[in-house]
Amino acid sequence: MESHELKRIDLIFSNYTTSKYKVLERTLQRDPDEIINELMDSGLKGRGNAGFPTGLKWKFARRNEAETHYVICNANESETGTFKDREILERVPRKVLSGMAICAYCTGARKGIIYLRQEYAYMMEHLQNELNIFHQHVKEFNFDFTVEIFLGSGSYVSGEESAMLDSIEGYRAEPRNKPPYPITKGLFDMPTVVNNVETFATAQVIFRIGAEEYSKLGTPLSPGSKLFTLSGDTPKPGIHELELGMTLQDFVKEFGDNNTKAVQVGGASGYCIPQKLFAETVIGFEGIPTGGSMILFNNSRSMYKVLHEYLRFFTEESCGLCTPCRIGTQQLLKGVEAVKKGERPVSYIDVLIKLALSMKSSAKCGLGQSVANPFISIIDNFKEEILY
Ligand SMILES: Cc1cc2nc3c(=O)[nH]c(=O)nc-3n(C[C@H](O)[C@H](O)[C@H](O)COP(=O)(O)O)c2cc1C
Ligand code: SF4
Repeated sequence: MESHELKRIDLIFSNYTTSKYKVLERTLQRDPDEIINELMDSGLKGRGNAGFPTGLKWKFARRNEAETHYVICNANESETGTFKDREILERVPRKVLSGMAICAYCTGARKGIIYLRQEYAYMMEHLQNELNIFHQHVKEFNFDFTVEIFLGSGSYVSGEESAMLDSIEGYRAEPRNKPPYPITKGLFDMPTVVNNVETFATAQVIFRIGAEEYSKLGTPLSPGSKLFTLSGDTPKPGIHELELGMTLQDFVKEFGDNNTKAVQVGGASGYCIPQKLFAETVIGFEGIPTGGSMILFNNSRSMYKVLHEYLRFFTEESCGLCTPCRIGTQQLLKGVEAVKKGERPVSYIDVLIKLALSMKSSAKCGLGQSVANPFISIIDNFKEEILY
């Protein structure tokens, strides 16, 4: 597995040339196919954690002829330990709006929506002011594209792209069957590109510095840099932009408190990596990917409590639509509590692991499918703490 030393980068928050939408103006003069090819050459993969190649997504959406297309910026940001999209929208909204407009230009969309996490409602005025400036510029560039803000419904699952479409259409946010994917049949059945806030901002960076320069960063499978949000037992909490492809060992050396026993990579839906695996774990698509969330736990933490919190989170956030997730999340929570209290034998944990694995293959969406990630990685690595 290719890896490299930890390196700090400053591309997303640098204010270079964002003042007058210069990158947008320049890019709108280019051929849409050429723009998409450049994005594909950059190797950019979605920063919302699923890691789908962004250029390919735009290319598929462009191919789908329809009466209209939509572009949606996913700003639901509800993964535990993630707070980078909020900061991007506050500090460099122009990069996000530029990325959305370029996507619209390439795919034929005339309407964009920012699906804003309900708890970020305080940002509405700031974003609306920025949108007024953006719309003036877009008009001057003779491009017909408007963006509006849709305030989310306050749940984790509404960040799942198809549930988000239902929410915007006025229904309860529940994941749809896939296929069809949103790029074929999305908002109001029209082809729709849904990308994460950071993905759009990064696309703007790529059109500013060029795909060649961007892909010099990172590794072949994980080109570029990304924002990491650090929390837990670290003397350096907050947002750090880093080159992709470092080992967890280097990461912990820089951000740990000399007492780190585990890192939860990717939030509640990610994996818990214990100290013995730090050196061999690469942060990126060749190893453990993350939408940004990195939560450090030191030796003072009870991993039983950590697991219990994640399971509680999942039982609360399950939308209840499918049985494996609705019942499975509750049974896992009750099950670990029962083993801990001695009401169930230690061997019961194997039954729970089987249940978590069956949820991975039978739950309808990524929420239920990912419960096994923290569940099994915490139990496998911290059995003593969980069972006794
Ligand atoms: C339960 C669940 C919650 C999600 N929440 C978010 C979110 O808050 N923000 C986000 O960008 N993607 C989220 N996603 C992923 C989206 O479905 C989708 O893959 C993403 O917005 C695509 O953008 P990207 O390709 O730029 O990453 C979530 C997925 C699941 C299953
Ligand atoms: S997996 Fe969970 S969140 Fe997803 S559809 Fe099923 S019940 Fe809803």
